[in-house]
Amino acid sequence: MIVDPCLSDRASGLTSSDFSRLSQFIYKQCGIKMPIAKKTMLEARLQKRLRILQITSFTEYCDYLFSKAGMEEELIKMIDLVTTNKTDFFREPDHFDYLVRQAVPELESRQQLGVSRRLLVWSAGCSTGEEPYTLSMVLSDYAEAHAGFSYNILATDISTRVLDKARTAVYEEERIEPVPLSMKKKYLLRSKDRENPMVRITPELREKVHFKRLNFMDNDFGIREHVQIIFCRNVIIYFDRNTQECLINKFCRVLAPGGYLFMGHSETLNGLNVPLTPVFPTVYRKL
Ligand SMILES: C[S@@+](CC[C@H](N)C(=O)[O-])C[C@H]1O[C@@H](n2cnc3c(N)ncnc32)[C@H](O)[C@@H]1O
Repeated sequence: MIVDPCLSDRASGLTSSDFSRLSQFIYKQCGIKMPIAKKTMLEARLQKRLRILQITSFTEYCDYLFSKAGMEEELIKMIDLVTTNKTDFFREPDHFDYLVRQAVPELESRQQLGVSRRLLVWSAGCSTGEEPYTLSMVLSDYAEAHAGFSYNILATDISTRVLDKARTAVYEEERIEPVPLSMKKKYLLRSKDRENPMVRITPELREKVHFKRLNFMDNDFGIREHVQIIFCRNVIIYFDRNTQECLINKFCRVLAPGGYLFMGHSETLNGLNVPLTPVFPTVYRKL
C-alpha cells in the first residue's frame, strides 16, 4: 500500500513543514535541538496551547506564533512547553559532597573568595528550584561550621513557569524525600494541611537565592561579577556540540580563575575547545 505522506501528516496534526518551521525556530531561540524523532512529543506538548487559544490547526498556530503579537504574547508560553524541566533535591548527590568537602575549602585556602569570604554560586538552568535550594542547604551548613563564610546563589532559567514555581518555594512532601533528616528539620516548614501535605523552604534559605530569567543564547548574560561556582547540570544535553562549546566558553568568561563548573553526570566536555580541566567526574576547573 502506498501512503500519501501529506495525508499521514494531516492525520497527525503537525505537518512536516510546520514541524520544520517550529524546530528551526526553537533551535535558534533556545539552542534546543529538535530532530524529527521529537515531532510527536512537540505536537503533544503544544496541543494544550491550541486548545486554550481555540485554534484548530498547527499551521494557524505557527502563523500566530510568528506574528508580531505572537512573538510578544505566545513565545514565552511556547518556550515553557518545549523545555524539559525534570529535577530533584540532592540530584547527583556526590556533587554536593565534592562542593563542601573539596571545592569550597580549596577556594577558601587560596583566598579566592577575597577578604569578604563571600562565595557566589550560579545555578544555570535551575528549573523549579530544587538545585539552588539544595545548594543553599549545604552551603548554609558549611557557613554554620565556618565563621565568617557567606554565600549567595544566582538561579536562572529560560522558562518563566518554572521560575514562578521556584520563587514560591513550596513543594509536595514526597519531593523532599532525598533531603537528609537534619536538613529537613532546619530548612523546611511543614503545612498544617494533612490531606495535602506541602513543605516550604525557610525564609533564611530563600533570601540567599536570587531568581532571574536568562536565555543561554543571549550574547550578554548581564552578570557583572565573577562567580566561583557554576552548576549547569542536565542542560547542555539538549544542545548540539557547537552550541555546547559556545555556551561553555561564555560560562568561562563569567567564572573566576580557579572557579569550578559542575555538569550533569551524562554530560561531557571531551573534545570541546574550552579552558577547563577535569578535577572529578563531570566537575571541571577554570585554568
Ligand atoms: C532538565 S532541567 C535541569 C535542572 C537542574 N539543573 C537539574 O539538573 O536538576 C533543564 C533546564 O534548562 C532550562 N533551559 C533549556 N534551554 C535553556 C536556555 N536556552 N536558556 C536557559 N535555560 C534553558 C530548561 O528550562 C530547564 O528548566
